Amino acid sequence: MNLFTLLFVTILSSSVHASPVSPIQKRDVFTPPITYPTNTTVWNKGEVHNVTWDISGAPVNITNRFGGRIQLRAGGLITPLILADSFDVLLGTYPVTVPWVISGDDFQLVFFGDSGDFSAEFTINGVPE
Ligand SMILES: *[C@@H]1O[C@H](CO)[C@@H](O)[C@H](O)[C@H]1NC(C)=O
Ligand SMILES: *[C@@H]1O[C@H](CO)[C@@H](O)[C@H](O)[C@H]1NC(C)=O
Ligand SMILES: *[C@@H]1O[C@H](CO)[C@@H](O)[C@H](O)[C@H]1NC(C)=O
Repeated sequence: MNLFTLLFVTILSSSVHASPVSPIQKRDVFTPPITYPTNTTVWNKGEVHNVTWDISGAPVNITNRFGGRIQLRAGGLITPLILADSFDVLLGTYPVTVPWVISGDDFQLVFFGDSGDFSAEFTINGVPE
């Protein structure tokens, strides 16, 4: 591959592995499983819901502990929509406001502590297509 292709691939792969923490920094990986929403959850636009996750497996020292982020995924693709950011990953629950989106049943949340963890697919009643 030529230099341009190489550069492009490098940008692509670095964005896939994007992490808020410097790679040289030693840290404990903590990607807690999301326990709510579940695969039977239905949210309506504008509502506030408490996303919850299991903190029982948390290591003693978590680097970037206050860098929790919840982002929306739709149809298997991560969207740029951030529902919550810069919260303590040891809280175990955090309120989010359901965004105004086109209605669908293949939404997921992505929880970024270290690498991302996906929730089950759930439904958002937003705006008709
Ligand atoms: C929903 O989750 C439950 C519990 O994990 C599981 O038993 C069930 O098969 C799931 N249903 C679907 C449609 O994925
Ligand atoms: C979310 O949690 C807060 C604080 O515990 C509680 O007051 C509120 O009723 C919860 N909201 C929902 C939708 O469960
Ligand atoms: C956690 O951090 C403290 C203070 O930096 C350190 O003394 C301790 O050994 C660490 N524990 C683990 C399990 O890494």
